[in-house]
Amino acid sequence: LERTFIAIKPDGVQRGLIAEIVSRFERKGFKLVAIKIVVPSKEFAQKHYHDLKERPFFNGLCDFLSSGPVVAMVWEGEGVIKYGRKLIGATDPQKSEPGTIRGDLAVVVDRNIIHGSDAPKTAKDEIALWFSHGELVSYTSNAEKWMYGVN
Ligand code: GTP
Ligand code: MG
Repeated sequence: LERTFIAIKPDGVQRGLIAEIVSRFERKGFKLVAIKIVVPSKEFAQKHYHDLKERPFFNGLCDFLSSGPVVAMVWEGEGVIKYGRKLIGATDPQKSEPGTIRGDLAVVVDRNIIHGSDAPKTAKDEIALWFSHGELVSYTSNAEKWMYGVN
């Protein structure tokens, strides 16, 4: 099954939205295979967002990601990379649909509470950046045969 990297940013943690966000992925049927809470260094944040280093907001973005606790997670499931982005909603919460995490819970683009990998390659790289191999757990959930219909 496919895996993606999801992070609850410092604003999401401070606003008490950890359970709300975890719950949306869990209820959909995705499986949590890694989770930890960490305060990333600025250097680490720069690595995470290296694709955006030419953007004018890069410095502020990295300062923000490293400003407090982040909940780092790996979620597994069929289509989880693309569908995870759908659950999250558009980058700018002013444009995210109601019903999405950012649409329901955030207001401005630089405080949009959650990160999700945008493609298979970035998912792989981000999981490797945030987690060591031993922190990822492989297991079959009891619900899987009911969700995927393989009995
Ligand atoms: P992530 O899941 O956090 O990677 O967001 P994204 O993939 O929806 O957007 P992108 O990777 O393009 O940008 C990364 C983060 O930079 C966003 O989540 C925003 O917090 C921030 N960001 C993106 N565009 C802008 C912008 O125009 N201004 C500011 N201030 N921040 C931005
Ligand atoms: Mg992105």
